Amino acid sequence: MALVIRPRRDEDIPALAAALVRVHAQDGYPVEGVADPEGWLRHDRELQSWTAVEDSKPMGQITLTRAVPADDAAGAWQKHTGDSIDHLAIPVRLFVDPDHRGSGAGRLLMETAVDFARSRGLAVAFDVMLKDRAAIRLYERLGFAPIAEISHHYGDGNTEAAAVYAIQ
Ligand SMILES: CC(C)(COP(=O)(O)OP(=O)(O)OC[C@H]1O[C@@H](n2cnc3c(N)ncnc32)[C@H](O)[C@@H]1OP(=O)(O)O)[C@@H](O)C(=O)NCCC(=O)NCCS
Repeated sequence: MALVIRPRRDEDIPALAAALVRVHAQDGYPVEGVADPEGWLRHDRELQSWTAVEDSKPMGQITLTRAVPADDAAGAWQKHTGDSIDHLAIPVRLFVDPDHRGSGAGRLLMETAVDFARSRGLAVAFDVMLKDRAAIRLYERLGFAPIAEISHHYGDGNTEAAAVYAIQ
């Protein structure tokens, strides 16, 4: 099956939203739930999003965002490096449809976002919930390492253990 990573198009959103609902049912990602999956996919600080397409079907995606001080990952990265967050991009909303896992789509999506950031002189850091073991394995294989442990707060007083990852 032909796997292609390309910039996300608006018409990809409904299929990606449907995939996200399946991801949430299987993996509990995102922890905030999927009441509005299409809205969740449209990030207001998006630099670029990419879609993984297999046999013409959108089945995974990633969004690269501009860092702001309110981002947990930005604060931890700034403390760790002493650099300005103007030099940082944060990948978010990475997922692959459960029926299409293990074929390299997640890795290619992440590599595409990282290459894009680097080509613009931006470092990359992000947070990941410790429960998301497949994602952590993928990030560590790509050379990312934890630089801080954090707690992700969401909903009505809920907390999830997380870590901020960056390339050392
Ligand atoms: C993380 C995720 C995007 C990986 O997608 P994927 O397309 O299956 O990943 P890949 O096929 O590219 O695998 C990449 C690496 O991850 C690891 N991996 C992925 N799924 C795995 C599994 N089920 N078991 C063991 N290792 C796994 C492997 O180490 C693999 O490395 P390799 O290519 O050197 O063998 C996918 O599991 C997912 O959508 N998870 C739920 C959402 C999530 O956690 N998102 C990240 C939030 S920060």
